[in-house]
Amino acid sequence: MISVENVTKDYQAGKIEVHALRDVTLKVEQGDFLSIAGPSGSGKTTLLNLIGCLDVPTSGSIIIENEPVSEKSKKERALFRREKLGFIFQTFNLIPVLTAYENVSFALSLQKIAGKELDEMTMKILDEVGLGGMEHRFPRELSGGQQQRVAIARALVKKPAIVLADEPTANLDSHTGEGILALMEDLNTKHKATFIFSTHDKMVMDRARRLVLLHDGKISSDQRR
Ligand SMILES: Nc1ncnc2c1ncn2[C@@H]1O[C@H](COP(=O)(O)OP(=O)(O)OP(=O)(O)O)[C@@H](O)[C@H]1O
Ligand SMILES: [Mg+2]
Repeated sequence: MISVENVTKDYQAGKIEVHALRDVTLKVEQGDFLSIAGPSGSGKTTLLNLIGCLDVPTSGSIIIENEPVSEKSKKERALFRREKLGFIFQTFNLIPVLTAYENVSFALSLQKIAGKELDEMTMKILDEVGLGGMEHRFPRELSGGQQQRVAIARALVKKPAIVLADEPTANLDSHTGEGILALMEDLNTKHKATFIFSTHDKMVMDRARRLVLLHDGKISSDQRR
């Protein structure tokens, strides 16, 4: 359902060209629970951003549910993202002037969900990620780990077909990290949502059903267990 075909991504950093991804090919089936690991700078965020339609490859193509997303315009990609994808960023990207509740419910209102349904879905997911009672706090009034959980709640609340997560447990203690992972596993089995997440966390790698290793912009190993 997700097909990354011979994708390269080059960035221009001043006069230097950085080859962030080199000829990456990867097929992801619906319902996969896949972890991308590799050293810092190996291209994990770059690959997630491309699958997440936030950016387009320098060459090669990305096809999601039969749609060649890498050929879409910026506007078309934004619409596609809103409908199909949940994204958890390495740097949260919460809206600072909105409370935890508003950051999450905003994602639902974009999908025309309102009223009691919106309220119930928002409160349920905030509770599930362990933020019950903190819904009226602004991001600056929350710890890094708590902000991470708001970002996770925001990505999961609309029950997207595909969830992309860049280091979802990086700022969490191991207990909270396990809770988040259990929540992701639950959504994966109950809703058949596809999960792709990057991680440095051994616990997360161990619980993934498929582990892809990136080295210097290339896939060096791809194992199912
Ligand atoms: N916007 C950019 N402009 C220039 N170079 C970039 C840009 N974004 C990433 N890079 C470079 O591309 C390479 C891959 O970066 P990327 O962020 O994908 O790595 P990563 O595997 O996610 O690393 P980390 O584990 O530190 O998050 C790095 O060499 C990085 O410096
Ligand atoms: Mg990264």
